[in-house]
Amino acid sequence: MKTILVAGGAGYIGSHMVALLVEKGYDVVVVDNLCTGHWQAVKGAKLRVGDLRDGNFLDQVFSEFPIDGVINFAAYSLVGESVTNPLKYYGNNVAGSQSMLTAMKNHGVKKIVFSSTAATYGEPEKQPIEETDRTEPTNPYGATKLAIEGMLKWCDRAYGIKYAALRYFNAAGANTEVGIGEDHNPESHLIPIVLQAALGKRDHVGIFGDDYPTPDGTCVRDYIHVRDLASAHLLALEYLDKGGESGSFNLGNGTGYSVKEIIDTARKVTGKAIPATVEPRRAGDPSVLIASNKKAQEVLGWKPERGLEQIISDAWTWHSSHPDGYGK
Ligand code: UFG
Repeated sequence: MKTILVAGGAGYIGSHMVALLVEKGYDVVVVDNLCTGHWQAVKGAKLRVGDLRDGNFLDQVFSEFPIDGVINFAAYSLVGESVTNPLKYYGNNVAGSQSMLTAMKNHGVKKIVFSSTAATYGEPEKQPIEETDRTEPTNPYGATKLAIEGMLKWCDRAYGIKYAALRYFNAAGANTEVGIGEDHNPESHLIPIVLQAALGKRDHVGIFGDDYPTPDGTCVRDYIHVRDLASAHLLALEYLDKGGESGSFNLGNGTGYSVKEIIDTARKVTGKAIPATVEPRRAGDPSVLIASNKKAQEVLGWKPERGLEQIISDAWTWHSSHPDGYGK
């Protein structure tokens, strides 16, 4: 494997994947329509701007480069928006992946690592969540990712395209060496919002509910460093290259932190007060989501290396040096 196609490589997690592949000496080709991604985040790779749903565009890219494997991050990912506009999510996420798989089939490319999500589980049956647990998404975002996992399974059977679907828990952090980080507009994720409050760009953080059945009443999530996520993708690609069986894998640290614990850790890391007020619950938030990462450890040989303080401190380095994100 030498040349890797990264779809959505200008986005938050995709750009960290590109940085790792470049560091490891791969030739990297990024396809991205730049609708939510940033060209400035693509460092050391070739960028072809276009949409996955454009089959001619993908045919050109697959003809231009000797692609050995694909990593697909390209998707819309706002849970709330997916509830109000499900067709936008099916139309982009599912159709984009279908188009990518069609190009792979036509060009004889047999390995894909796919960006899936803990949202495929919906309201979990138990903690920590294992890959064999019930998958019943509670929003269209999770439903589109699960639909794509189904499409991958059938494409493996029909065309021999091997896949690893990686179900991320809460991605956070930044690559301070390369100088890339999280820049969403609008921002909805907790850690960047907390750090924007530390920078004075927001006057406070709203804590969405403190009456959940958790130790301090706020929601518990499993935060995983984006660089650890990138390492897992590379291991997954190598695993498929060695003939590994297709499957789905959870990617999380296996430890949960509450919203209040995140804010407290950010206060410690940044030395800032970070005002916070309790607000009503956000619709559709499960109280606790913690990954069992046993399968990824055993099958892929993955071991996350960075804990919460490192996640927040790397994110702080990024946000404090790029208070307006990319390009400003
Ligand atoms: N939260 C707040 N205040 C905020 C923002 C978030 O209290 O201003 C809380 C949320 O209610 C939640 C926790 O912080 O309890 C984390 O929220 P995020 O929005 O950062 O992340 P989610 O857990 O909601 O979502 C993440 C991914 C989604 C994915 C989902 C899977 O961002 O893409 O996990 O469960 F679908």
